[in-house]
Amino acid sequence: MLNLAILISGKGSNMNAILSAVQEGEIKNVKPSVVISNNPSALGLRSASEIFRLPTKVVLCNKQTKGWDYDKQIVSVLCQHGVTPESGLVCLAGFMRIISPEFVRRYNMRIMNIHPALLPSFPGLRAQKQAIEYGVKVTGCTVHFVDEGVDSGPIILQKTVCVLDSDTEETLSSKILKEEHKLYPRSVKLFAEDKIQVKGRKVFIHN
Ligand code: GRF
Repeated sequence: MLNLAILISGKGSNMNAILSAVQEGEIKNVKPSVVISNNPSALGLRSASEIFRLPTKVVLCNKQTKGWDYDKQIVSVLCQHGVTPESGLVCLAGFMRIISPEFVRRYNMRIMNIHPALLPSFPGLRAQKQAIEYGVKVTGCTVHFVDEGVDSGPIILQKTVCVLDSDTEETLSSKILKEEHKLYPRSVKLFAEDKIQVKGRKVFIHN
């Protein structure tokens, strides 16, 4: 059984998509164990506890608790819930913090993130706005493992979304989000079924 933690900062719609897929039996052998947020008002915290009946934990950050000082509190919560570096999986789902190298190394290739663009294009914040301003005709979303850079780790799955002349940041974001809700559960399922192999930068999916 794979113990799963989801880290959120906001709405948590990707978290909901993953948890629903587990609840509906589309993803097997995964035990959602804890939802953690840096933001006490994150909407997703309520659905995690009220709809999915999961333990939730807020880990507040202040100026003193940056980088690894902050992340080691997260790691301690993960371990308390059985999400260990050996056998756990950590999904970042709109978690608005950069993960420290110590955390990344500890959970090597066991932390996933979703990004609303076709990486390596448009990393960082407001990827949909960046795509519109650049004038690309196609963008999309990417699920990747987290490495020590920003949005730079090995790519697991990607899905394209067309950009129309009429698209605004909002319309494009909602089209991409719809695809995110399918891509992230698929990635977790592949991981849980042990179908993912990472060699250097490349991720191979075994069917
Ligand atoms: C998503 O667009 C995701 O790609 C990005 O942050 C957003 C989170 O949305 N990393 P939600 O909290 O899952 O609804």
